[in-house]
Amino acid sequence: MVQNKAFIYKSIPDGWPVPGKDLAVEDITFDEDGEPPKGGFTTKNFYAAYDPSQRGRMRDLSIKSYSPAMQPGKPVVSVSVIGEVLKSDTPKFKPGDTVILWSHYTESYSAVDESEVERTQIIHPKTVVPLTAYLGPLGMTGMTAYGSLHEIGQPKKGDMILVSAAAGAVGQMVGQIAVREGLHVIGSVGDDKKLDFITKELGFTSGFNYKTEKMSDAVKRLAPDGLDIYFDNVGGELLDVALANMKDFGKIIACGAISTYNNGSNTTPYGIKNYGSVVRKRLRYQGFIVLDPNIRQWQEERDANVSKWIADGSLKSIDHITDGMDNAIDGFLGMLKGENLGKSILKIADP
Ligand SMILES: NC(=O)c1ccc[n+]([C@@H]2O[C@H](COP(=O)([O-])OP(=O)(O)OC[C@H]3O[C@@H](n4cnc5c(N)ncnc54)[C@H](OP(=O)(O)O)[C@@H]3O)[C@@H](O)[C@H]2O)c1
Repeated sequence: MVQNKAFIYKSIPDGWPVPGKDLAVEDITFDEDGEPPKGGFTTKNFYAAYDPSQRGRMRDLSIKSYSPAMQPGKPVVSVSVIGEVLKSDTPKFKPGDTVILWSHYTESYSAVDESEVERTQIIHPKTVVPLTAYLGPLGMTGMTAYGSLHEIGQPKKGDMILVSAAAGAVGQMVGQIAVREGLHVIGSVGDDKKLDFITKELGFTSGFNYKTEKMSDAVKRLAPDGLDIYFDNVGGELLDVALANMKDFGKIIACGAISTYNNGSNTTPYGIKNYGSVVRKRLRYQGFIVLDPNIRQWQEERDANVSKWIADGSLKSIDHITDGMDNAIDGFLGMLKGENLGKSILKIADP
């Protein structure tokens, strides 16, 4: 048996997850001499993606949604984990293959059941594309950004777009793609370092720090004629401000509402005041989940374009790495609090 440190989900948080009570790091052991599961395989894991959606899965098991609730006592489920195959009982993989495990436990070693084989993907890493890009721009995050911007936003050169959580995983992608397609791109971020990052490094046209400038003043200042598209990662007050500032026939891409994810049972949710704009301005307001067929239909184009852009250096894939399973809780809470610049990833071991 070897040590197998894992990021464990202990209990349903009420509000912000509490380290030690709701989340922990524990050794769940791994039998390195054992056989792989029948029809399955074993892996040593290198990276696990953090995603805000993980917080949504820390809920009562009876509450249904597009993805199942996590099981208390088991490791935290990551959207995607990258590892190397150790032993295999399936012809699909051989020892040494680099794979992405979708919707898999955050653990150092895995015994992967036959039921996961079909959805597991081999990666053929290219020297010009970092391995972690398969968790970011070339993974679920990039699919979210590329698919929804094009499918729902239908961007046109010259459009004015506002992107919230602009320095995060989805935001950095949406903003950079919009810039290259000739849009006027405004980013909203939670600190000045992020503001510099999106405007000076990612090429956003402009941006504002929503913690230091009144959101309605900032949007009026930067988009005096209004917004064609709002890419909403946060919900709450900024959504309300965007609704008030949309142009007629504008589009709102409802991607996420992270400002609400850690609301506790005693929190009064923010009440949207400008809902009337949807009708008055004839807005198109559409939510989506990255797995939807109308979003996935953009995958081939995303794969081709994004790998080309990363390889030629014209698209930046910035990672925010938390090093080591011992720091797994800090990395997760750090993402929810806004400490990340780019895609939040837990590094479990050196590849
Ligand atoms: N629909 C889908 O299929 C889908 C798929 C992937 C992601 N999403 C959603 O997309 C959004 C972004 O995800 P991501 O992976 O790219 O995360 P991320 O942006 O890398 O990280 C979360 C960011 O949210 C911001 N934030 C935290 N609390 C906030 C608050 N109260 N108000 C405003 N901003 C806040 C923080 O940035 P600041 O410092 O700027 O505040 C933080 O860095 C999330 O809502 C997520 O649920 C949806």
